[in-house]
Amino acid sequence: MKAILCTKYGPPEVLQLNDVAKPVPKKNELCIKIYATAITASDCIVRGSKLPVWHPMGFMMGLVLGFGKPRNPILGLVLSGEVESGGGGVTRFQKGDRVFAFTVNSATKMRFGTYAEYMCVPEDWNVALKPANLSHEESAAVPYGGMLALHFLKKAKIKNKDRVLVYGASGAVGTSAVQIAKHFGAVVTGVCGTSNLSLVKSLGADSVIDYTKDDGIEGGSLYDLVFDAVGKRKSSRFKSNCKKHLAPGGKYVSVDGGSPVPTIENLLLLKGLAETGGIRPVIDRCYPLENMVEAHTYVETGHKKGNVVITVARDGAAG
Ligand SMILES: NC(=O)c1ccc[n+]([C@@H]2O[C@H](COP(=O)([O-])OP(=O)(O)OC[C@H]3O[C@@H](n4cnc5c(N)ncnc54)[C@H](OP(=O)(O)O)[C@@H]3O)[C@@H](O)[C@H]2O)c1
Repeated sequence: MKAILCTKYGPPEVLQLNDVAKPVPKKNELCIKIYATAITASDCIVRGSKLPVWHPMGFMMGLVLGFGKPRNPILGLVLSGEVESGGGGVTRFQKGDRVFAFTVNSATKMRFGTYAEYMCVPEDWNVALKPANLSHEESAAVPYGGMLALHFLKKAKIKNKDRVLVYGASGAVGTSAVQIAKHFGAVVTGVCGTSNLSLVKSLGADSVIDYTKDDGIEGGSLYDLVFDAVGKRKSSRFKSNCKKHLAPGGKYVSVDGGSPVPTIENLLLLKGLAETGGIRPVIDRCYPLENMVEAHTYVETGHKKGNVVITVARDGAAG
């Protein structure tokens, strides 16, 4: 099968298209024919890892992922596709089921491998029938931002009428967080750059703030919850001032604050929200598998809107 291999840690050019053996499912695994995947922040962090082995974090990453290059050279954590076959112990799915998945289990064990035509995943991981109304590209854009946003908003115990500020409302996690916070009945302010103000408003944000123009000192609005959806690598004067706008007892939660626990309940909630129009996956650009280097180079600019999706193959039944 065709796959994109990460030949060593480094710039996007380390990603190379190659032919590799098609995986064979174990007893409890599904072999999924992948139609679409998305480039996640996790893929880019792993691929671009610069930490030397003598650095404690570099050593830890080497132990978990591999020294010098990823032990599993195929990156990618999200997919939308079709169940092609299953091991003898599979009970929940059938050949031909259209599924979407986040290939991390509820014990936060990750299995990279969606930058390929096929991947095997245990059926009791985060795999579900894909939203019926979405294309494979749209379905692949749901799990990463959606699962991270849901985890952290639930962790903060978001509730009806909370005043919620989503910092970095235009990324994969941010565009999901705005819509999910609205689903929970929150009054949402989205913070993003100038070119994304109308996008974030269109996702349901009650108000928007431009972090490139507003330093967050004036204004004085108070929030019950501030969710930093872009994490520690991205900041601004506005973000530094965010905590001043917490209401008494308000919470500040960062997407980098601990390991998110993806659960099948959350994946099914996202599916339901997608099917009822409660969330709309935002796709910035879509590339064919062969153009992975170009796609990673674009993501590396740090300014993608929502998701960058990869079409791996066409679903003949999709019309
Ligand atoms: N806790 C964990 O284990 C875990 C796991 C995975 C990921 N993460 C974190 O999740 C983060 C978010 O991932 P993502 O895929 O949603 O990010 P992303 O889509 O790559 O974020 C892109 C967005 O960031 C915005 N942005 C860039 N600079 C900004 C700034 N200074 N202030 C505010 N917004 C800015 C851009 O908007 P503009 O163009 O308008 O600036 C763009 O829309 C990752 O970076 C990582 O830190 C954590």
